[in-house]
Amino acid sequence: MEKTLYKSMNAENMEELVQAFYPKVLKDPILAPFFIEKLGEDIESPSWKTHLILIREFWKRTALGYDDYTGNPLQPHFNIKGISREAFGIWLNLFNETIDETYEPFAGDYLKDISNQIADNFMRKLEI
Ligand code: HEM
Repeated sequence: MEKTLYKSMNAENMEELVQAFYPKVLKDPILAPFFIEKLGEDIESPSWKTHLILIREFWKRTALGYDDYTGNPLQPHFNIKGISREAFGIWLNLFNETIDETYEPFAGDYLKDISNQIADNFMRKLEI
C-alpha cells in the first residue's frame, strides 16, 4: 500500500523523516564511511541514538522554531576527514528523496531549500 504523505511539517513527522534518512545514509557507499567512522555502523547503538536526537532537535529548531537544540551544527564537520562537495551532493539528493517520501508535493519545499542553503554554507566554511 502507498504510504500516506503529510501535508505539513510537525515535530512527529520530522522525527519520521530523520528515522528514514539515516538508514539510507548508512547504505550509501560514499556517505556511510564518514558516519561509521564517527558513530559506528549500528543505528541502534547509543552513539547513533544520541546523533538522531541531536538531528531531530536541530531540524525542529531550524524548521519549526523549537529551542531544544543548542549545539553548533557546523563544528563536527571540521573533523570529518575527506568530506567533499561530492558527498554533500549525495547527502542532499538522499535528503530530498526522503522529503518526497514523507511529504506531499510542495509541502517539503521549505526543508529542501533550507537544507540546500545550510549545505552551501557548510561547504563555504569548510573551504571545500
Ligand atoms: C557530506 C555531508 C555530511 C556528512 C558526511 C555529515 C556527517 C556528520 C557526522 C559524522 C556527524 C557526527 C559527528 C560527531 O558526532 O562527531 C554529523 C553531525 C551533524 N550534522 Fe552532518 N554531515 C553532513 C552534512 C550535513 C548537513 C548538510 C547538515 C544540515 C543541513 C548536517 C547537520 C548535522 C548536525 C546538526 C549534526 C550534529 C551537530 C552537533 O553535534 O550538535 N550535516 N554530521
